[in-house]
Amino acid sequence: MERTVKYELTKVVKASNKEGMMDAANHLLDGEVVGFPTETVYGLGANALNAQAVDKIFEAKGRPGDNPLIVHIYDKSQIDELVSEITPLAQKLINAFMPGPITIIMPKSDKIPDNVTAGLNSVGIRMPIHGVASEFLKMCNCPVAAPSANLSGSPSPTKASHVYSDMNKYIYAIVDGGDSDYGLESTVVDATSDVPVILRPGAITQKQIDEVCGVDSSSKFKVEADEAPKAPGMKYRHYAPSSEVRIIDLPSNISEIEISDNEEEELSDEAKQMMFDIAKPYIMTCKEVLATNPSARIGLYCGEEVRDLFEMLKDNVLLSHVHFFIYGSAGDIEKASHSLFDGLRTLDIQEVDLILAAGFSGEGLEKAYMNRLNKAAFKSGEVTSSMKERKTRSKTISDFNSTCTASVLFLCNNNRTLSAAAEGVFRKLLREQGPFCLEEDRKTEVEIYCESAGIYAVDGEKVNKDMVKALEALDVNIAHHVTSRACASVYDQNDLILTMRDDQTEEIVNSFPELKGRVFSMSSYLASKGMVIKDDKGRLVSLSIPNPEGESFVTYEHTARALSAWLKIMFPYIIKDLGAERA
Ligand code: TXA
Ligand code: MG
Repeated sequence: MERTVKYELTKVVKASNKEGMMDAANHLLDGEVVGFPTETVYGLGANALNAQAVDKIFEAKGRPGDNPLIVHIYDKSQIDELVSEITPLAQKLINAFMPGPITIIMPKSDKIPDNVTAGLNSVGIRMPIHGVASEFLKMCNCPVAAPSANLSGSPSPTKASHVYSDMNKYIYAIVDGGDSDYGLESTVVDATSDVPVILRPGAITQKQIDEVCGVDSSSKFKVEADEAPKAPGMKYRHYAPSSEVRIIDLPSNISEIEISDNEEEELSDEAKQMMFDIAKPYIMTCKEVLATNPSARIGLYCGEEVRDLFEMLKDNVLLSHVHFFIYGSAGDIEKASHSLFDGLRTLDIQEVDLILAAGFSGEGLEKAYMNRLNKAAFKSGEVTSSMKERKTRSKTISDFNSTCTASVLFLCNNNRTLSAAAEGVFRKLLREQGPFCLEEDRKTEVEIYCESAGIYAVDGEKVNKDMVKALEALDVNIAHHVTSRACASVYDQNDLILTMRDDQTEEIVNSFPELKGRVFSMSSYLASKGMVIKDDKGRLVSLSIPNPEGESFVTYEHTARALSAWLKIMFPYIIKDLGAERA
């Protein structure tokens, strides 16, 4: 997956330039990679039936080869040759939502090379509704495999200029079709069984899908462990800018009150109060941050009401530290979604230390927006501690010739407490100790990912509050963690799996014998490094970490300290086992 410069310059072709588009399409058919617009985000396309061309996508993106790509079409008749079966459920979804911002996972046909689907026997099919996208896909005259056209780990591109800044010199051309309409990637829905399972929320909502399929979405949690859905890409912390991101929740009744934008009209008391409620947490947070770090630069991804209130305050010191990216009026989820990635990228380029971004509640598009924002925020969870010093940026990709990735999974039963805590602590260590490079080639960066999951977890639950509090004392912030359930594909994609207790390791190895040698309990991992604790009779003491749930807060504090101490000891061994060392 080495990233090497391929072209002197990447061509940017306007959608009005038909000859240029045709040239880009011909090159794509012949094995080159081309960026193109869709209604969701820009894609990085290659001929889906040509394995070598597909490899070039992974290389240009710096993307782990274990994350499958989706295949784009311009006509429904193309689906037949790409899948081995269109289930009745898939047919309903195709009829209702294609073309549009949806990706439907179906069993794959033999025609699709394995690197497109990362070895899975299913494939995601997407038919964009965007005019330029369909025109371009038609010109290509082949199914087009395409992930979002960002560098792996960066926010998805919603403008040609975003693609250019991530991909110039690495791909043949970019078709410029203007801003993406939605700004968030498609809804990914697994239609391989008889219940639709949403793997990634998007503009097509759970409710719409349930209606069309005549199911009750709550049934999805009844899926048995071994038939649990596979959502390979979701383990990667996408969408994250290098600045730290903190979410500022909007008042929950925001949609009930109209704030007039007519300047002449006097605001009602209710509207004034609402404006104040929206802006207050931004102002308070900025003041708090500036109190500990007087030189901080703060980016605000917010509604215009927030800027208006900041300006009304006439606090020039405060104003000199903030950079606004206004998406529209504060409660407008469509506008907030449309500009989210652009906002994160733009504020990031302005090198702010911290981004405060609007948080929405709600089950529709809000869900897709929060899914992306939570990921951006969680990568850089610990804001307060590192804000005390001015942030030093870690090495950028240009300091290395190439990049590869490695990942660690922490596992417990419900992912609400212990494994979530371990992930938080480990992330902090990664941030403090990184960047990392390959042991045998110091010019290759190793991006180390970590995640956590629960063997019996329910997806999307909130983290245990006491654990959040106990970790705060250690400068570890896991407040934004949401639970996820472990499944075969999650195990598959991690190089090392650490469980909290021996019996959890046993359970996984029993179900997935091929994982032996990659799964350890924390205590057996330490033992394998020669660190054993014996009691006075010389018997081995198991260091299993008990779950503090239901115990007093003191137990949480104790658990947090113990986990943190252990992980510190284990950290260098883990890095070495991943083939990496500190750069
Ligand atoms: O809106 C979109 O979907 C954009 C535009 C360009 O079409 N594409 C996009 O691709 O977001 P990408 O690769 O960034 O995200 C695709 C997601 C990943 O999370 C991937 O793991 C998942 O879909 N996916 C792809 N094929 C899959 C499969 N066979 N089974 C399960 N998940 C799959
Ligand atoms: Mg992506």
